[in-house]
Amino acid sequence: MSADLPAYQCASCGRSHVPAAGRWRCDCGGLLDLPPRPISWNPRPADHTLWRYQDAIAVPGRAFSLGEGMTPLVRAAADGTDRTLLKVEYASPTGSFKDRGAVMLVALARLLGARRLVADSSGNAGTAVAAYAARAGLAAEIFVPAGTSEKKVQQIRGHGAEVTAVPGSREDTARAAAARVAETAAFYASHVYNPYFYEGTKTYALEIFEQLGQAAPATLVLPAGNGTLVIGAYLGFAGLRSAGLIDRLPRIVAVQAERCAPVARAFAAGRAETVPVEPAPTVAEGIAIGAPARGARMLEIVRATGGTVVTVAEAEVTAARAALARRGFWVEPTGAVAYAAARRLRVPGSPYAEGELVVPLCGSGLKAPG
Ligand SMILES: Cc1ncc(COP(=O)(O)O)c(C=O)c1O
Ligand SMILES: [Zn+2]
Repeated sequence: MSADLPAYQCASCGRSHVPAAGRWRCDCGGLLDLPPRPISWNPRPADHTLWRYQDAIAVPGRAFSLGEGMTPLVRAAADGTDRTLLKVEYASPTGSFKDRGAVMLVALARLLGARRLVADSSGNAGTAVAAYAARAGLAAEIFVPAGTSEKKVQQIRGHGAEVTAVPGSREDTARAAAARVAETAAFYASHVYNPYFYEGTKTYALEIFEQLGQAAPATLVLPAGNGTLVIGAYLGFAGLRSAGLIDRLPRIVAVQAERCAPVARAFAAGRAETVPVEPAPTVAEGIAIGAPARGARMLEIVRATGGTVVTVAEAEVTAARAALARRGFWVEPTGAVAYAAARRLRVPGSPYAEGELVVPLCGSGLKAPG
């Protein structure tokens, strides 16, 4: 193992664990984090991938790359007068922001000497892990819920990974993946449990900071299923603040589908933890997470930044997707969720009407059935 790899730290009991292929939770059942640290701001100008921020990333050295990161940040209105900015994450190599985290997990797996990866996903994280495993020459088995978009399944298979479709809920899929990890000692490339994934999604914040001329926007609107972008974006801006590079954090607005909104419910009720819900079918398949493992962390982040949690109805998502398409942006339904919320937040008089507001277009429309 590389001596430079930071140890995991249990969020419940504080115990440290040396990263190892089979380690994804603490023995006490707690979630693993990496110790927080200030951002070391030293972008490498010649590197046009997220590895330009390698001094701020816990994975030592520059790993292999498919050209992930450095996605465009463009004004929502074509005339450039608007202060709503769209971060075009679907321009990522596999068509979603999950590439940011997947490259970190596969780099970590390789440093730990793993030959085989297991991951579970509603689709996009699985396609990303499959592509990066292919790039790194590692075998991968991806567990997806039965009924996941056919195009995502085809993409995972195309990258040479094995696909196991699991009937039941997203949580049943996660349990099947964890059982396979326990049986085979494969590396669990979990975007939910492995904190190295957030080292990748953290670069979402670093890019925005650089693209805005070394400034933080007033608001980040982010989709929230398991919260990998919510948590990563927060870690990036919190690290910039502890390095003294910004003096306030953007408010974080987490967005859930009305039909699956455990974080929104807990937020409204003033609770610190989410209570699992049974997801009803939603067009936003990527955020249909009834029991997000890091729900409490998302609630803490939203509250710490003075943000909020909002829900969007099915019809709003569909309308937002169509509105984006008419402006030239082709996203999958889940990729329109944050924009749907932003359209509502930007009305005059709302506390979110002022200042720069950044919305990710998370996933490509080319992955969706219609
Ligand atoms: C397109 C898209 N947007 C948003 C999300 C939500 O990400 P997370 O579950 O990490 O909150 C996903 C997750 O798969 C996704 O595929
Ligand atoms: Zn513990």
